[in-house]
Amino acid sequence: MMKREIAIVTGANKGLGFETCRQLKDSGMHVILTGRDEAKVRKAADGLTAGGAEVSWAVLDVQDTESISRFADEVRDTWNGVDVLVNNAGVSDFGRFDGPAAELTVKTNFFGPMQVTGALLPFMHEGSRIVMVSSAMGQLSCLSGDLRRRFESPGLTRDELVELMRSFLRSVSDGTSAHKGWPSSAYSVSKAGLNMLTRILAAELSPKGIIVNSVHPGWVRTDMGGLSAPLDVKAGAKSIVWAALLKDGSQNGGFFHNGKPLPW
Ligand SMILES: NC(=O)c1ccc[n+]([C@@H]2O[C@H](COP(=O)([O-])OP(=O)(O)OC[C@H]3O[C@@H](n4cnc5c(N)ncnc54)[C@H](OP(=O)(O)O)[C@@H]3O)[C@@H](O)[C@H]2O)c1
Repeated sequence: MMKREIAIVTGANKGLGFETCRQLKDSGMHVILTGRDEAKVRKAADGLTAGGAEVSWAVLDVQDTESISRFADEVRDTWNGVDVLVNNAGVSDFGRFDGPAAELTVKTNFFGPMQVTGALLPFMHEGSRIVMVSSAMGQLSCLSGDLRRRFESPGLTRDELVELMRSFLRSVSDGTSAHKGWPSSAYSVSKAGLNMLTRILAAELSPKGIIVNSVHPGWVRTDMGGLSAPLDVKAGAKSIVWAALLKDGSQNGGFFHNGKPLPW
């Protein structure tokens, strides 16, 4: 019998993360749901096993370095490699723009995926896929000319990107962010950073045959997206699942919605 692929999804206890797990499970993968709250993620996993399917769950808070490292140890000790990682966990700061809110947003949406990916990379192999769940709100058009040029520079390194994200947080705290050309949305900046991280990681990892893409799921009815959103989670998760199921590197290092490329 062929070995079932292993897929890890962050923020899987509800919303797009949970629906992504359902669709990946239906495609035949062994899914590991992760979430920061043990009771919630266990309950979510129970919801997926109702039909007799086997799934696993684990505690993972993407903001917490110790939690990430404990989870990586668990993966090393329990699973024989990681085929798919979906960095889905995210928070929004809609309606609030100050230092603490920006810190929480950038820590969860940018530094979280960066650290989780780094911790799980040792268990990935040729053909593994990393999916960053991003947003059209992070398209580079949200940045002013000079910042935009720095973000989209083909030579941008990971250290330079991290420094740009830190400089954004400093400028929010000292009240100079608008003057420096940042938008008044840490969510947008966090996802712009995540997209550039995708580009950098894809270039770094392509010699190893590891595929890295960002996706925009659309505006989806979840706790984050709200009741007015036009898409249900089933439709929204399709973009994510498409990238998780890519079979070769013909689409690598891009930003996609429903399998179609979007401009950074
Ligand atoms: N909905 C949309 O319209 C839309 C559009 C574009 C992009 N997105 C992106 O899609 C992703 C999923 O969003 P959603 O709409 O499904 O939102 P959601 O229903 O609010 O779900 C967010 C998930 O992230 C988890 N999470 C938050 N902080 C975490 C942390 N520190 N560690 C681990 N998990 C954490 C939440 O866990 P708790 O339950 O414990 O809080 C929850 O499971 C996000 O990255 C979001 O930015 C959504």
